[in-house]
Formats: sequence, C-alpha cells, structure tokens
Amino acid sequence: MNRVDFLYLSQEDIIKAGGLDFNIFIDTLEKILGTHAKGDFVQPLKPYLKRKEQTHVADRIIAMPSYVGGDFDISGIKWISSASQNPVKYNLPRASGVIILNDSEKGIPVAVMDATLINLMRTAAVSGVATKYLARENSRKIGIIGAGIIGKMQVKAVHNVIPEINEIKVYDLNKERAIHWSNTLEKEIGVKIIIAKSAQDALQNADIIITSTTAEEGYIEGDWIKKGSLFLNVSLNDPKFDVILKADKIIVDDWEQCNRKDKVLNKMYKQKLISEQDIHAELGEIVLKQKTGRISEDEIIFFNPMGMSVEDIGSAYTIYKRAKDLGIGTTLSLWEKPIGV
Ligand SMILES: NC(=O)c1ccc[n+]([C@@H]2O[C@H](COP(=O)([O-])OP(=O)(O)OC[C@H]3O[C@@H](n4cnc5c(N)ncnc54)[C@H](O)[C@@H]3O)[C@@H](O)[C@H]2O)c1
Repeated sequence: MNRVDFLYLSQEDIIKAGGLDFNIFIDTLEKILGTHAKGDFVQPLKPYLKRKEQTHVADRIIAMPSYVGGDFDISGIKWISSASQNPVKYNLPRASGVIILNDSEKGIPVAVMDATLINLMRTAAVSGVATKYLARENSRKIGIIGAGIIGKMQVKAVHNVIPEINEIKVYDLNKERAIHWSNTLEKEIGVKIIIAKSAQDALQNADIIITSTTAEEGYIEGDWIKKGSLFLNVSLNDPKFDVILKADKIIVDDWEQCNRKDKVLNKMYKQKLISEQDIHAELGEIVLKQKTGRISEDEIIFFNPMGMSVEDIGSAYTIYKRAKDLGIGTTLSLWEKPIGV
C-alpha cells in the first residue's frame, strides 16, 4: 500500500521517448522560459563542487535543483559533472550526470534518469528558441568555435529553426576533432561545413555565431562581428569585452545566474563596464512578448545563456511523461514498505 517505485530511464530509454527530437525540446523550452518569466519557479543558486587541484574552469560537479510551476508542477535536481579531459583522454563526453524528479506534493522521487542527453538537448533548444526570436530570418551562415557535442547539438537546433542555413564554418584548436565533427555533422544535416583557418575566419561573415568551447580566456574581438548577427554565447569565456560592448542588445536566460563569479557579464559588471540596466531582457520575457526581440536587420544581439535548472527539470518531466505513456523504462523500488512513518 505504501510501496514507492520510481522510473529509471537510461539514455537509450530517453531517446526512445523522444530525447533527440528538437521539436519536442524547443516547444518545451518555450513553455519553461515563459514559466520562468512569470516567476512561477524556485531555483536556488547552484553550488559548484570543485577540488583545489581542479584548476580548469570546466572541471567540477554542479548541483542544480529547482521547482517548475505552471503546467509542469514538478521538482527535481540535476547532478552534472564536467571533466575537460574526458573527450581526448578517455573518449568520454565532457559532461555526465543524473536527474532526479520529485513529486511536488509528496516529495517522493518519481524518476531517476540520465542527465547527459537532457543537458545537451535543453541547451541546444534554448539556442533554438533564441534563434526563433532573435536571429534575422534571412540568416544563412553559422560560424562556430568548439567542435564538441554541445556545438554539434547547437548547430542542429539552429538548423531546425532555420532549415535554409547553407554554410557552417567551424574552428577548433584540435583540428582532428574539427574534421571528425564536420564529417559526421555534414552527413546528418546535409549542409556544407568548412573548417576555418582561425577563429576570426570562422566568425567574420557569420549571421549566427556560436561559442561552445572550454576556453578560459577571451579571444574573440568586437570587429570580427558583423551587423545583424546573433551571438549565442553558450560557453563561458570566449568573447572579449568589446564584443559585448558592441552589441545593441544583451539578452540573458537569467540575470542572477549570469551575474555570478567568473562569468563574463559579471566580470564586466564588477568593472562597471555594464550595469543591470544594460541587460535588455531575459529570454522568457521575449517569448511572452513582455519585451521586444529583434527590431531591425542591423542589430547585433548578444545572447548569454548560463543554463538553468528549470530547463533541465521541465524537459526531463516532459520526457518522463512520454516514457510513462509509451511504457518505456525500468520500474525500480525505493522500498516495499517504509521502515517507519
Ligand atoms: N550555457 C549552457 O547552458 C551550457 C550547457 C552545457 C554546456 N555548456 C558549455 O559548452 C561548452 C562545450 O561543451 P562540450 O561538452 O561540447 O565540450 P567538449 O570538451 O566536448 O568540446 C569543447 C571543444 O572546444 C575546443 N576548444 C577549447 N578551447 C578552444 C579555443 N580557445 N578555441 C577553439 N576551440 C577550443 C576543444 O578543443 C573541444 O574540441 C563547455 O564550456 C560547457 O560548459 C554550456
């Protein structure tokens, strides 16, 4: 009677439940961002577990809890680690983790699932939503730095929103990775991919710029960025400050999350180069039409997504419900009977 079961979903289960479907994720992310803009969420600031020998910015484990309201009404946590050497040293993804979903009323766990794919897809879908609202409709060229799995999914999400994309230029410090990335992605989406000679070469004619590196220092110059472009700043440190100062609009996912130690906007804020008033909007406010998105062909828009737990928990819940409906996953028992009440 008071037995508690939860659903376990592996990455393969998540894929069967629609985990690689950009339409599902972009639609879900619009709803989550709208819920965020309405303030119907709880999202404590994420703690970083970082040992002192982990000096690289991309080496840590992050705990990301939240409650998402509205039609979601679900709580949970993503526990996601990042090890920058994984791809090259161990042929493993940089990031891996699990998500736990908790029933909002009883608090009991209802699902434990792979977080790695949800993390990729929700990050890509946020950029998909940003592309829909902030890119020029006639954008055709993507310039991307960082040929990892995040970058690959970013390109797929942008391509999903603008299928007319006809050129992708990629630059990665690791040329071998860039070649492999281009060969596989070109076959998957059927768009010509050019390996750029330098970061500047990749970006200077791009309508949509994506950064998905693990760079620790800014290197992108303001004068590489053309008028009318959308800059999706998915990784942490790639643009120099003048890129952001040159932008006509700075848009974030969540200002509080972006204005934290070591993040590029926070560094500028601390040096009084920007203030909160310089942040045009959070993306959810644009989705809900509380603030304007792109209003001219010439605007340079800088979008800085820091990544929010509500995006993970709302997306995971969508996949969990689909898995339940389709009978996918393994039911595990938390207990047959609690030892006490
Ligand atoms: N904003 C978000 O919500 C969000 C979510 C998930 C991941 N991310 C970020 O996305 C980034 C990429 O993740 P990934 O899993 O694909 O990592 P990855 O390690 O698989 O790929 C990163 C690539 O960047 C390249 N690189 C590093 N520094 C470079 C430089 N200065 N110039 C050119 N190339 C460079 C590396 O060689 C590597 O191929 C990470 O920084 C991660 O923190 C952001």
